[in-house]
Amino acid sequence: MLKKLVILLILAGCAHSQNTLETQVILADPGAGQTREAHEAKGQKYMITTQGVYSSKAAKKMFDMGGSIADAAAAASFVLAVERPQSTGIGGGGFLMYYDAKKNKGSNPWAYDFREKAPINAKQDMFLDKDGKVMAKKSIDGIYAAGVPGMVAGIVDFHHRFGKLPLNTVMAPAIELANKGFKVYPELAKALEFRAPILGRFSASKKIFFNKKGEYLKEGDLLIQKDLATTLSKIAKYGANGFYKGDVANKIIAENQRLGGLLTKEDLQKYNVVVRRPVSSTYKDYEVFSMSPPSSGGVHVVEILNIIEKDNLKEYGPHHPKTIHLVSSAMQASFVDRARYMGDADFVEVPVMGLTSKKYAKDVRYTIPESRALNKMWAGNLDPFLYQKLSVKNEHDETTHFSIMDGEGNVVASTQTINGLFGSGVVVPGTGIVLNNEMDDFSAKAGVQNLFGAVGSDKNLVEPEKRPLSSMSPTIVFKKGEPLLALGTPNGTRILTCTALTILNFIEHELPLYESVNAVRYHHQWQPDEILVEKKGLPEKTVKSLMRMEHQLKFEDYGCRIQAVAKNGETLHGVSDIRGRGYAVGK
Ligand code: GLY
Repeated sequence: MLKKLVILLILAGCAHSQNTLETQVILADPGAGQTREAHEAKGQKYMITTQGVYSSKAAKKMFDMGGSIADAAAAASFVLAVERPQSTGIGGGGFLMYYDAKKNKGSNPWAYDFREKAPINAKQDMFLDKDGKVMAKKSIDGIYAAGVPGMVAGIVDFHHRFGKLPLNTVMAPAIELANKGFKVYPELAKALEFRAPILGRFSASKKIFFNKKGEYLKEGDLLIQKDLATTLSKIAKYGANGFYKGDVANKIIAENQRLGGLLTKEDLQKYNVVVRRPVSSTYKDYEVFSMSPPSSGGVHVVEILNIIEKDNLKEYGPHHPKTIHLVSSAMQASFVDRARYMGDADFVEVPVMGLTSKKYAKDVRYTIPESRALNKMWAGNLDPFLYQKLSVKNEHDETTHFSIMDGEGNVVASTQTINGLFGSGVVVPGTGIVLNNEMDDFSAKAGVQNLFGAVGSDKNLVEPEKRPLSSMSPTIVFKKGEPLLALGTPNGTRILTCTALTILNFIEHELPLYESVNAVRYHHQWQPDEILVEKKGLPEKTVKSLMRMEHQLKFEDYGCRIQAVAKNGETLHGVSDIRGRGYAVGK
């Protein structure tokens, strides 16, 4: 069975290689209980890929009831909030790229930003002790880690503008699932085990995620979220006011005050969704649109693609040492820029145009040796501000992503999160809301690493109402003005490299979508100075070639779960990453 999954694709370009072994495409192993049948689908009317079975089914139900892609996306979002409480939820936030085939025709998709914000009372040094040292746990565990949630505002606003069905119809599957419950699946069980020490500290969290004997829930146990069902019903009835005002808001603030958190009523009332211009660029004949700041994702997906665009990697294939060397070096260079320049562009100047310009990419590429790893001390010396043509202001398996396309050419790609597994671990009593720990995505101090090992500069320091830097990269690729591919993934800083690799697999190496999503991945984020390769590994000869180039390699499974939908003529093709829970369904 496993052997069957190791598909050896001898690519057209292998004639250029002396060694066919180096041109193999190695596929990742399926996650526990995952089958290709559930993870791949074809259709013409619509196609949905999410990290949940109930969420994909809810989105399908909306289409089948005559709903729009916005109804399907809103239904999937709220069901994911129930089905994946470890990854996302109404206590979190996210981004959503929307291409409306009629309204956006000939122009950019919209980039919805409903990222959490720092509370008004947040202070730059709030995660430092009196000696100026970072108190790492404080931005990860407990109430202090929580930013102002944005998910409800974002999804309700999006649905209000583009949905056809009433909000209570769209939210019904989520309310039903929260009330009835579902069996804890392996990924959720693992997350519960990992975060039990934190969840166990808060009685409201224990009430949901632990049994009567005081043990955290295990695989196969029933997870019922009655309080969450009640909160969702209030949102279904009152819209965003059901969350940001009234009884639910009062409960959020009361628990904050009890635990010494910073959130106030004013924070909830002032929360605003922003519709931004996405980051955009071309890659050969394709146009790429991805999330703009406060995400770093779009900028660096584009930067990585730009740096290697002229290298004609198709000649070598996706797992050839030359490809891995050049792409991982481009990743490394991009992460240097991430650490130096990225933050919330509403607060600090971010050189988006410079970092995504072809000229900048060409000059960065020039500094990458052909067959030797970048010097360990390499940190680049180009100034992206000099490449700005114009000033563009405003413009562990955590998190979740879904992609949807319909037969009319509409597209949604959305990544949503509460940051770490079960966010802050705090459930607001009586509401079922798991509060995020998105404050950890700020830099507690310039140069210090966060949960995902990401280094940030003073551009990403905490400021009241600022949005923490993200890596989430919901992305839509177009060919000749028509949507071709929608994709995204969870997993912190790895999001942007997993997204870039999948795009490369699909459009540069011309792999089928299933192989594009499931090919073994690698990641370089500058610090640590190593290429992280999925445990499944690469052929020994490839590893040796890379080591001869002085690359350090580390083998570890690192949790991206790409959810992708592609369009080929009239056919919509969905693939949900085989590495974990997910479901592709279409018609
Ligand atoms: N919280 C993960 C991210 O926004 O990148």
